[in-house]
Amino acid sequence: MALILIIPIALITLYVCHAVYQRLRFKLPPGPRPWPVVGNLYDIKPVRFRCFAEWAQWYGPIISVWFGSTLNVIVSNSELAKEVLKEQDQHLADRHRSRSAAKFSRDGKDLIWADYGPHYVKVRKVCTLELFSPKRLEALRPIREDEVTAMVESIYHDCTHSENLGKGVLVKKHLGAVAFNNITRLAFGKRFVNSDGVMDDQGVEFKAIVSNGLKLGASLAMAEHIPWLRWMFPLEEEAFAKHGARRDRLTRAIMEEHTEARKKSGGAKQHFVDALLTLQDKYDLSEDTIIGLLWDMITAGMDTTAISVEWAMAELIRNPRVQQKAQEELDKVIGLERVMTEADFSNLPYLQCVAKEALRLHPPTPLMLPHRANANVKVGGYDIPKGSNVHVNVWAVARDPAVWKDPLEFRPERFLEEDVDMKGHDFRLLPFGAGRRVCPGAQLGINLVTSMLGHLLHHFCWSPLEGMKPEDIDMGENPGLVTYMRTPLQALPSPRLPSHLYKRVPAEI
Ligand code: HEM
Repeated sequence: MALILIIPIALITLYVCHAVYQRLRFKLPPGPRPWPVVGNLYDIKPVRFRCFAEWAQWYGPIISVWFGSTLNVIVSNSELAKEVLKEQDQHLADRHRSRSAAKFSRDGKDLIWADYGPHYVKVRKVCTLELFSPKRLEALRPIREDEVTAMVESIYHDCTHSENLGKGVLVKKHLGAVAFNNITRLAFGKRFVNSDGVMDDQGVEFKAIVSNGLKLGASLAMAEHIPWLRWMFPLEEEAFAKHGARRDRLTRAIMEEHTEARKKSGGAKQHFVDALLTLQDKYDLSEDTIIGLLWDMITAGMDTTAISVEWAMAELIRNPRVQQKAQEELDKVIGLERVMTEADFSNLPYLQCVAKEALRLHPPTPLMLPHRANANVKVGGYDIPKGSNVHVNVWAVARDPAVWKDPLEFRPERFLEEDVDMKGHDFRLLPFGAGRRVCPGAQLGINLVTSMLGHLLHHFCWSPLEGMKPEDIDMGENPGLVTYMRTPLQALPSPRLPSHLYKRVPAEI
């Protein structure tokens, strides 16, 4: 009996001593008072970046939030973002791997979950020089244009079919299809869905693996933050092993198909899977790394683009003036007799500003991905002890009234008046992060978002559903690492171009 009491008392005493020691040794950023054991976990509201922005109003632009016994520091203005992502970048470029992330990534053998070190530098080089080079981006352009025109065709079908007339479309359904097909073709060289919308067996397996991964990842949330409670939430080793084996089996099968095709044709295609297999020796890439990188692209590149366009469309319906101005530009530059291509971008400055303004107000990863400190560092005059996680609230930074005029207004013109970079050089606007871990897919993401928006606006006028006012559109977010709209956008498209321009332009690549 005594032993049963002694163990918890000893643990609590240890915890309190450790907490007091930390407080005395380090000058930590201010923040809400943590509770024993759970820290601030139960104080955090579901939409985390809004909660942290609210706390920043009380405690200042750098705050401490305890997830159980782990210190998380959140910065919310552009000066501190610069300190984190530029001045202290070298010491703040590791990743915190939850137990599930560690399993999925084979302990950081990929890119997303790798700590900053020789392996990271090597795979990052593969991304910069090979996978996301301007040449490959251009070579893969037909895939994007195929998918964007397929989206136009399917929206046209939905809104002109007699039984759907006047009912509106679920915008996310169409954007999700572009994102899914684009990323599977780009990474795996596969369109799992045929032109009638039917998914093949590999596609069904692929989708099942993605959703099983999400389920497994979410199952451990609480115990992740309180290490000594983990024995109560054992990792489902078997389920993770099964999941990993299933993912590897599908990926290997696809890799073998590509190897066979290369042997037959004698040349490599442009898809990431071909690139990685042909570069395997040059960069000394293990099979775990190749598989990890391919799945990283799916994880990071699929939802982000669809989310950005859904928010942009919601803003365009709420702001008919902006929608009309973008359409006038498209009509002037492209006319009414052909469809837009990426080659038109440079003549469509207002469209580019619309995409940028949407990413400013609605970055799809509002807290980026957390960075972990590999040493004790100082930010904003406060200590950040080694092992803490640092988040940049890029959502709050991009709405900071100290650096943005009328920050809550959707006004793309602001970027015509002042050209603000969004790929990590201007710390007021960081939808892709900055520094060593800046998003390697930024240009690809921008191209896809701009292309989707251009086609949606050139081909259709968009209005709210019948009986609904633009201001009734719910602009709240779903909780999560990426921020889908809380209420998926439904809207009424009306075609505005001749009917022969609504056909998919398939590309055999
Ligand atoms: C609108 C679209 C996108 C946005 C807003 C976005 C944003 C971001 C952000 C904020 C990060 C975290 C940066 C950090 O940790 O500091 C990130 C990382 C990453 N993104 Fe993107 N992303 C987008 C599209 C894509 C696409 C299309 C791909 C690939 C196909 C991609 C691949 C990645 C990868 C691999 C990482 C991890 C980089 C690392 O850990 O070093 N992203 N992205």
